[in-house]
Amino acid sequence: MSYIKACIYLDNSATSRYKPRAVIKAVERELKCSANAGRGGHKASIRAGMIIEECRERINAVTFDGYAVMTKSCTEALNTAIFGKSRFGKIITSVFEHNSVLRPLERLRSKGANVVHISSPSGVITPDILRAHLSADTSLVVLSEMSNVTGTVQPIDDLGALLYDKGIPFIVDAAQSLGHTTSSYKGVSMLAGAGHKGLHGPQGTGFLVCAKDYVPTPLIYGGTGTDSASLVQPLSPPEGLESGTLNAAGIAGLSEGIRWSVKHKESIVRRITELSAELIDGLKSIPQVKLYTDNLNGVVSFNIGDLSSSETADILDAEYGIAVRAGLHCAPLIHKWLGTLRRGAVRASIGVCNTSKDVEALLRAVSAIAARKG
Ligand code: ALA
Repeated sequence: MSYIKACIYLDNSATSRYKPRAVIKAVERELKCSANAGRGGHKASIRAGMIIEECRERINAVTFDGYAVMTKSCTEALNTAIFGKSRFGKIITSVFEHNSVLRPLERLRSKGANVVHISSPSGVITPDILRAHLSADTSLVVLSEMSNVTGTVQPIDDLGALLYDKGIPFIVDAAQSLGHTTSSYKGVSMLAGAGHKGLHGPQGTGFLVCAKDYVPTPLIYGGTGTDSASLVQPLSPPEGLESGTLNAAGIAGLSEGIRWSVKHKESIVRRITELSAELIDGLKSIPQVKLYTDNLNGVVSFNIGDLSSSETADILDAEYGIAVRAGLHCAPLIHKWLGTLRRGAVRASIGVCNTSKDVEALLRAVSAIAARKG
């Protein structure tokens, strides 16, 4: 346990290590006063419901004014968004996506949809690039806001404006970007978010924000606490999309995580930007390092010499106590695009808990590994 606590944690894109004290307290408070929101008229149930409503409002404040549906993960939110409407014609996505987008779309492709994976030399999908792929039968565009492999950010508002003008639904995977970026999400039909990354909430929390005129049908049917006499699933959002008891403790924590992340956003982004610059400059000065990131968004991928990414990550963990993520990061097509499908890449992802000392320790370790093995 002490090692787990003491390690230099640079895997914040997988889940942010730092959880504010208010998050931990809110989870604890909710566990100590458990009540089922929407499942009773007593004060304890009403209080739990109010905490969930407050979380929805905070989600709206960092995304857009739509129905905020609570889910257990961003993946569940994306599945609801993608499968919750009848899909036809051409569906556009990119090679920069996570499997939480690629696999649901592959399922649609196996049932006859025309799924097109677009790309760009820089990693940025500009409105001109997207426009060139649109056709009369384009029924959906699904893109992530920030790559979990390179940290590249897409111009979501410009893309949203283009698609809104053309009346094409637009689903955004904001798993990596929330807490970091400043988009207005105008023109976005549905946005999927993770609670446990840049919003500093607990794992097991996610959400789907749906534009009020673009509500999907549920994937899961059951008790909603509403319209209980009916055997037919109530479709009214958000409850119709939230069958089953919600993760009230997680949601209470997420709500505090959002509040904290918004309050400290400027300093969080500044720290991540500065540490990214230090890390990238340092990696560039090590001749054996091949770098795959060219931005300061805190997601820095690289390899050393001919080493496989997992070998490098294992050495960093075992010999230097540094936690990074190796492999394909559940995003195989971007690795194919980078030329790293075979060996993957080492990803160091920076969070608010990191300091220059962490970056220096990683750079020293990478230099030593490169000198020894690279
Ligand atoms: N999608 C998460 C990552 O990039 C888990 O590591």
